Amino acid sequence: MQRLKDAKNNVRRGWTRDLDDVIKYFNGSQIYTLEVKITSSCVMNCLYCYASSTKDSVQQMSTQTLCTLLDDAADCGVQQISWGGGEPLERADWREVMAYARDTGLRNLVMTNGMELSDPGNLADFMDLVEMVSVHIDTFDQGIWARLHGGMSPRFDAQIQGLEGLIESGFDRTDMALYMTLTDPLFIADDYLQTIDLAYDHYGISVIMYPFRAFGFGKDVTDLNPTKEQMARAYQYRNAKDGIPSGPGFGSKFYCSTSCHVGSGGELFGCSMVLPSYVGNIHRIGFKDLYDRNSHTLTYHQLKDPSNIKGKCSSCADNSFCWGCRGASDIVCGDFTESDPFCWK
Ligand SMILES: C[S@@+](CC[C@H](N)C(=O)[O-])C[C@H]1O[C@@H](n2cnc3c(N)ncnc32)[C@H](O)[C@@H]1O
Ligand code: SF4
Ligand code: SF4
Repeated sequence: MQRLKDAKNNVRRGWTRDLDDVIKYFNGSQIYTLEVKITSSCVMNCLYCYASSTKDSVQQMSTQTLCTLLDDAADCGVQQISWGGGEPLERADWREVMAYARDTGLRNLVMTNGMELSDPGNLADFMDLVEMVSVHIDTFDQGIWARLHGGMSPRFDAQIQGLEGLIESGFDRTDMALYMTLTDPLFIADDYLQTIDLAYDHYGISVIMYPFRAFGFGKDVTDLNPTKEQMARAYQYRNAKDGIPSGPGFGSKFYCSTSCHVGSGGELFGCSMVLPSYVGNIHRIGFKDLYDRNSHTLTYHQLKDPSNIKGKCSSCADNSFCWGCRGASDIVCGDFTESDPFCWK
């Protein structure tokens, strides 16, 4: 835990600037980061996409609904919006809603596949509006990329151009991360090592890992699951690279407990992959009321007492910052209070 706090910029870069502030929210069972699925649309065709995003059958909330949500979030003390999707930059009015968030006092974080940032006009506006960014690129190897995207496409080069455009334009690298979805093909010829090295040593940015989950389109490609041994190798290598400890999930328990997710149809969840964390729809009951009535569900309040987690996570030496991925437990064990089934410890 101390190592997590002592880490440069307090925490693995790319998702928050102030871990102490997040820990205050954790202790108060409050939401610090609101994830918003701004559109379901995405042309990238990642075969495993848990959000089941395609360019067809687009679902998104109106601009007005989003602005009301942002007002409500700011009133509730939310500090930052993590825009996701689908591909957030495929939504036509992304500039308008992100400018609204900024003017409401919220920090804009964007999860993007990077492709739209190969357009200089998009890049310039992005630089102006966005404070933190994660660019999702699993591999720089064309063969493995093609395997994960149903064939090769110019989108591969566009993603890299987008990432490099951000760096060349001076986006603060301490506010950037590369997001890797950890799947079995990344272990072919140890490709994951090269991706992690490129991120840290060449681009100078952190790597945040999302272990593959058999959710959404991922349900049809379960052979992409990494093994526990692969998980251990990837996490141990990445953790040694930046000296920050972590368990087998996306972030620490401080992120999971202080974030919640609004889907493209207005569905509010503690986590988009944990179905029992659903508390209602903001179209029917506004965000403020849903949050007031359900803050303990949204923040997994019960799990703050480790004895309420089943199995090894409850007595693990790392449970001061880790409680495993609740999505993994729910998807694999059918119970989000079970220990993380992918943890190698
Ligand atoms: C759904 S995408 C949306 C934002 C943006 N299009 C992107 O790719 O970053 C958000 C993150 O989900 C992760 N992801 C997608 N499908 C996944 C799956 N089946 N299991 C685990 N993580 C997944 C990707 O790593 C990606 O960074
Ligand atoms: S993971 Fe992101 S980039 Fe890939 S298809 Fe899904 S939304 Fe698009
Ligand atoms: S056993 Fe549980 S708490 Fe310990 S590192 Fe693994 S997932 Fe985290």
